Amino acid sequence: MANITYIESSGQTTTISLNDGWSLMQGATANGIDGIVGECGGSCACATCHCYVDDARLGELPAPSAGELDMLENVAAERRPNSRLACQIKATAALEGLIVHLPEMQE
Ligand code: FES
Repeated sequence: MANITYIESSGQTTTISLNDGWSLMQGATANGIDGIVGECGGSCACATCHCYVDDARLGELPAPSAGELDMLENVAAERRPNSRLACQIKATAALEGLIVHLPEMQE
C-alpha cells in the first residue's frame, strides 16, 4: 500500500491510499480525480492518463516500457522529462508519499 498525492492543474490536491498492484490511473479514476481520464482502461493505448512525477522520485520508478514511450508521443499536454502514464505505474510500498502533478488537459 502507498499513499499517493495527486495535484491537479487547478491546485486541487488529493491523497489516496492505493493497494499494491493498483495503478495510479485506477486510483485516480476510482476516486473522482478529474485530471486523469484513463480512456483505454489501462492498456497503454490512449495517453489520457498523463502525469508528471515528482522529479526527486522519478528514478525510483521502473523505467517506462517501449510501449509507454511510444504512447507518450501522443499526450495532449506538454511532454516533459518527468512525463509518465499513470496506468503504467503500479503502487508498491516503495512509492509511499509519491506526488504526481496532473496536466491541464488529457485530450
Ligand atoms: S489509461 Fe490509456 S494509456 Fe493509460
